[in-house]
Amino acid sequence: MTERALEGRRVLLGVTGGIAAYKTPELVRQLVERGADVQVVMTPAARQFVAPLALQVVSRRTVVSDLFARSEGAEVRHIAMAREADLALIAPATANLLGKLAHGIADDPVTTVFLAVTAPTLIAPAMNDEMWRHPAVAAAVERLEEWRYRFVGPEEGFLAEGYAGVGRMSEPETIAATLAAMPYSTIARAGGGAPGDLDGVRVLITAGPTREHLDPVRFLSNPSSGRMGYALAAEAAARGARVTLVSGPAEISAPAGVELVRVTSAEEMLAASQRAFATADVFIAAAAVADFRPARRFDHKQKKATLDPHLELEPTPDILETLARDKGERFVVGFAAETENVIASAHDKLLRKHADLVVANDVGMPDIGFAAEENQVSIVAPDGSVIELDRAAKRTVAGGVWDAIVTTRKA
Ligand code: C5P
Repeated sequence: MTERALEGRRVLLGVTGGIAAYKTPELVRQLVERGADVQVVMTPAARQFVAPLALQVVSRRTVVSDLFARSEGAEVRHIAMAREADLALIAPATANLLGKLAHGIADDPVTTVFLAVTAPTLIAPAMNDEMWRHPAVAAAVERLEEWRYRFVGPEEGFLAEGYAGVGRMSEPETIAATLAAMPYSTIARAGGGAPGDLDGVRVLITAGPTREHLDPVRFLSNPSSGRMGYALAAEAAARGARVTLVSGPAEISAPAGVELVRVTSAEEMLAASQRAFATADVFIAAAAVADFRPARRFDHKQKKATLDPHLELEPTPDILETLARDKGERFVVGFAAETENVIASAHDKLLRKHADLVVANDVGMPDIGFAAEENQVSIVAPDGSVIELDRAAKRTVAGGVWDAIVTTRKA
């Protein structure tokens, strides 16, 4: 794992009133060291075990321990805090917290904020061993796990009561490392939401355009925004996948929980993709890779007067075709941007590039596809069958594409 595995991630830490709360300043320090921006919310009981000021100093943020304090903006503060989190953590989590969260009771700052959290949440319980073994606590944990809360510990060790048993909170370093490596799956919501059906699946996605430079200031490229590939990555991560997104130049920030590898040319995209492909279960080639590059690349800017108006080109590597040739058990999805005979061309591409599905869009239609907010696609299978998705925002289309992948992989 990389040292700064939580770089740029906003982590919401809930602290409840157990003796292990005295370890939370060290936990915050561990998170900050890994690059996280930590917001602490604590219960009144937790304040008996650790000073809010200590947590404030290490997190460099105001600690919230009173729900009725005046909020700055118009938005209700606890909702804002919940929404801003990329990842959430409750440490220590008492039996009281587990019971309340499992039953939707929100009567203190931590339970109130965490009922509104949808970000992936890790819970580090800490309590007396008999409390941990109470069936009510076991039932709460089981329920929370069903809703995709994840747990670290408790561990066996010396308890505050003066004897050894299971109930000790995991060490701050273990908690921080577990959070950093946690698969990204959002907390369940009534009436749907991300289904967690990609839990643990390793996904590689290429996205965006490539740039094929002639010299440092001139290149061949295309208007791809990368939005479709980024939406596929965000959707996969929200469903529990471990996603590597290899992206050409795009002006979109990395979706939460996704490893973003930035590249410029087709050659670099191939190299980065090859590395991630080795351990991938699913590969989606959503990038708009330039088909040709200047046969000669100059290291220095060429003078206009000396430039040859006839540019000699050579083909770039076909990333999809190269990787899918030796795909083994991997499930491979290609894209086909067409203006005529859309389905037939997509099917032809599927066979030629050894893909398991091809997502076809008619880029001749106005306002969809390239650099647009919305898309309308048809998904073509090897037997020629076609799933038509309705025109929708790219994130919604991404959901439909993943549904098709999940169903086809299972079949
Ligand atoms: O052949 P065409 O470019 O139309 O094929 C499109 C599909 O192939 C897309 O999935 C695209 O990401 C992929 N591709 C690629 N490397 C290239 C060209 C296309 O991976 N050099």
